[in-house]
Amino acid sequence: IGKSSLSKSLLVWYDRARRDLPWRAAPGERPDPYAVWLSEIMLQQTTVAAVKAYYEKFLALWPRVDDLAAASLEQVLQAWAGLGYYSRARNLHACAQRVVVEHGGVFPPRESELRRLPGVGPYTAGAIAAIAFDQPAPVVDGNVERVVARLLALETPLPAAKKEIFAFVADILPHDRPGDFAQAMMDLGATVCAPRAPGCLICPLARFCAARGGDPRDFPKKPPK
Ligand code: ADE
Ligand code: SF4
Repeated sequence: IGKSSLSKSLLVWYDRARRDLPWRAAPGERPDPYAVWLSEIMLQQTTVAAVKAYYEKFLALWPRVDDLAAASLEQVLQAWAGLGYYSRARNLHACAQRVVVEHGGVFPPRESELRRLPGVGPYTAGAIAAIAFDQPAPVVDGNVERVVARLLALETPLPAAKKEIFAFVADILPHDRPGDFAQAMMDLGATVCAPRAPGCLICPLARFCAARGGDPRDFPKKPPK
């Protein structure tokens, strides 16, 4: 399959159908790395719907990373209450302080440096590098795993298929718009290529998809018990 036409079709769809989420910049504008980081930490174990209000609250309380770093841990934990996984809030506060003290209040653009920050694992470092800094980093969450497992009709179950999925995403991602591509893949998985009711009839990737002829819900394959 034509890899560049696959990513082109995806981006054409994204330009028309992308979800309007509060941490996203207007089309063609650069997002604030602080906003991207904050949203990605919140989205780690929480749905988009639940994150929105917390994200707005945090940005209103602490508009910049310096403001968050200057808050007390108690204030941050209080604002986080209800989101769960409280180690994320502790790491959030520690990370903000680290960015201020060690990086002059500016998030580092490189994935390797992002990885060293508290609470920033491989997925989150890639997401920030791609979305905030347009670095060609593959961004693979559960939604993207499902989309790719279907596109390729992967017989290998998860988690064994993770390497192949990552390599496929690395291979097709367009170097001129890596951030939009990452978010387009996540949006497609969340809205069109849904777990139980994939909308193949309206899918911008249908002509590239190996699962479309059969039942896409067969993918990703479940590991044998
Ligand atoms: N899930 C995690 N990060 C996301 C993003 N930037 N857009 C949509 N869904 C996401
Ligand atoms: Fe998912 Fe169907 Fe699109 Fe394939 S054609 S990516 S299974 S929605």
